[in-house]
Amino acid sequence: MDKYHAESTRRNRNPILEILKKEIKGSKKILEIGSGTGQHAAYFSKKMPHILWQTSDRSINHEPINYWVKRYKLKNLLLPLDIEIGVNEKNINDVFDCVFSSNTSHIMSLENVKRLFVLAGKTLNKNGKFFLYGPFKINFEFTTKSNEDFHEKLKTERKLMGLRDIEELDNYAIENNMQNHAFYEMPANNYLSIWKKMPA
Ligand SMILES: C[S@@+](CC[C@H](N)C(=O)[O-])C[C@H]1O[C@@H](n2cnc3c(N)ncnc32)[C@H](O)[C@@H]1O
Repeated sequence: MDKYHAESTRRNRNPILEILKKEIKGSKKILEIGSGTGQHAAYFSKKMPHILWQTSDRSINHEPINYWVKRYKLKNLLLPLDIEIGVNEKNINDVFDCVFSSNTSHIMSLENVKRLFVLAGKTLNKNGKFFLYGPFKINFEFTTKSNEDFHEKLKTERKLMGLRDIEELDNYAIENNMQNHAFYEMPANNYLSIWKKMPA
């Protein structure tokens, strides 16, 4: 792995794409939080040319995203916004049909995960969807030993990181006017959870 390529992205992009295609029907604009290497954004926007894909991340991580946006030269793939949850997430002035974020909730502090749900609730159009991909705990239990080991490794690196419990995330969604829409089991002990914005 380098800052332009993450092996996990190559492995998970097709299973995620299949679900996105099904779940984003009728949507026009997606905001991605924590675009990372930018590979997901480049791949998904190429495969779904009808979707305007707005990338974002902390500015220190913009270089690889800029690289993929410029390399792909797609009209529907936008240069990253400077969005760092907990620092400047209030900078968004637009509304979106979907918010997508992958492998971020175990990297951010729990406070920032809560803010991510606030952002999704405020940013989504009526009936918009919030997609969160990653490893989660279910009923406060790790679903596999490898996820537990990963959690311990994250905690050693930085105490604030760690796998989140999906029921807790469901509660943050409810607090922000979103309800559970679907929960997909994904390869390699990951999940894709989708919450739908409720009509006001
Ligand atoms: C493990 S990487 C995942 C990258 C990419 N989404 C993927 O699935 O390959 C975590 C990403 O979350 C971003 N991130 C961490 N804390 C963040 C915050 N507070 N606000 C926005 N992005 C954040 C990092 O900059 C990084 O790009």
